[in-house]
Amino acid sequence: MSFTVAIDGPAASGKGTISRAIAEHFGFAHLDTGLLYRAVGNKTLTQGDSPEIATKLAQELTADDLNADDLRSAEVAQAASKIAVIPQVRTALVAFQKTFAKQPSGAVLDGRDIGTVICPDADVKLFVTASAQVRARRRYAELSIKDNSITPEQVLADIKLRDARDAGRDIAPMIAAPDAHLIDTSNMKIAEAIAAVIAIIKARHDQNHSV
Ligand code: DC
Repeated sequence: MSFTVAIDGPAASGKGTISRAIAEHFGFAHLDTGLLYRAVGNKTLTQGDSPEIATKLAQELTADDLNADDLRSAEVAQAASKIAVIPQVRTALVAFQKTFAKQPSGAVLDGRDIGTVICPDADVKLFVTASAQVRARRRYAELSIKDNSITPEQVLADIKLRDARDAGRDIAPMIAAPDAHLIDTSNMKIAEAIAAVIAIIKARHDQNHSV
């Protein structure tokens, strides 16, 4: 029997770290769906970002594209957020995500529209967030290791721009599903957040198996 966990939330909210920990704890497969959009966005940087080109790139995406260098850069993050507003790009990526969610070992997917669009029937839905300032501090700590020209102010501005674009788009905007558990990690240690999420999933898993 499959078991699906949908985790949504903005950049640097902690959703990726929580998702990986959950996958390891329960033996679920994990898909970071942002990587699909980053891989398409990355290609548009050299091949053009018209809706037609971006759609073709999304339709032709391969597993190798997900291993490209620099997918975690600030430039690729913005490119991903830009192509993510194109409905045809999103459509091209839906089937892969839905199939992934149904695997028998159980699956955790993290992104922006997992609980609302990709897996509206997920067994557990979470919306992980934190203040923009806290998220920018976390992201700066990560990015400044590779790029010492980056400034904290620039990272905060980038995060706000991406939040506004991801939450403001017409199709599949970043929003908590009405039945999602809200987890605000602004003042939480990551281990606390992981423990809280494990408890939520375990309760639901036990409930599914008691019926
Ligand atoms: O999770 P991330 O920061 O790696 O995502 C990069 C961008 O991809 C994000 O700003 C918006 C887009 N995205 C999306 O629109 N839907 C998803 N399910 C995941 C990511």
